Amino acid sequence: MIIKKPADIKSDEITPESVYIDRRKFIGTSAIGLTAAALGSRGSKLLAQDDRQDDELTSFESITTHNNFYEFGTGKGDPSRNAHTLRPRPWTVTVEGAVENPGEYDLDDLLRPHTVQERIYRMRCVEAWSMVIPWQGVPLGDVIARLGPTANANYVEFVTLLDPIQMPGQRRRVIDWPYIEGLRMDEATHPLTILATGLYDRDLLNQNGAPLRLVIPWKYGFKGIKSIVAIRFVERQPINSWKALAPNEYGFFANVNPEVNHPRWSQARERRIGKFRKIRTLPFNGYGDEVAHMYAGMDPRTLY
Ligand code: MTE
Repeated sequence: MIIKKPADIKSDEITPESVYIDRRKFIGTSAIGLTAAALGSRGSKLLAQDDRQDDELTSFESITTHNNFYEFGTGKGDPSRNAHTLRPRPWTVTVEGAVENPGEYDLDDLLRPHTVQERIYRMRCVEAWSMVIPWQGVPLGDVIARLGPTANANYVEFVTLLDPIQMPGQRRRVIDWPYIEGLRMDEATHPLTILATGLYDRDLLNQNGAPLRLVIPWKYGFKGIKSIVAIRFVERQPINSWKALAPNEYGFFANVNPEVNHPRWSQARERRIGKFRKIRTLPFNGYGDEVAHMYAGMDPRTLY
């Protein structure tokens, strides 16, 4: 599989946005339709909410040049400029902890038994910008089922590559590297959660987290850990990097909630990258019908 640098991509190799927009009508009966089927009647809301004004796909250009990937710098343009040093193949993912099938998996072996699906998701960054991204990936729940978590596996922890040569931003200690994230087992196995390998029908570019990253559409973007090298099945709640850095600003759950402001700014509205007018942010980023039940009995205000 050839992964090209952004400069090598000819514009005619990228599925034009208009083709995608046409295809969305078709997707209504395929990928998202599948999700809807998996979710029963609740799933139909996914499509209804997709009709929301401003839910046009964000351009490939914006998705691949406006990024957060601190391993390549803290500016939004840094990852697309600097991430060419990452070598996404060959790639090994270590599976460890409370699981029946631990080991070092070549990425292709880890993914081979699973069918790659297309998922168009709204993505909401904690910094109050958002995008609509056509991902390709495999449901994380399918991968987890095959790995066989044991009864002690209450959470799943994910770890990004630690290699200051491939990831020069790691020479500065902005974060206590490697970047770590985690999900509760029910969140990890929820049908909306995917391990993404591509977007716009192309392999993920390095700046988007090649070759494998997490996508959880009802949570703030920082939960979507990039360039994953380890998946650990653990008993206790993992300490995720942003919570470790600023626990009063970032939590473990990080569910999108317009009513809980970040200490330094409002979370009530968001700006779609490529558009000027701000739009309302929806609870659970608009996926509440599918996911709110997982937090029943918990105070939503504490789930930031
Ligand atoms: N993963 C790693 N390893 N390092 C990071 O700095 N940033 C997170 C998340 N995953 C980050 C990461 C944040 S804050 C966001 S908003 C998303 O990646 C951004 O993903 P995108 O650049 O593909 O839109």
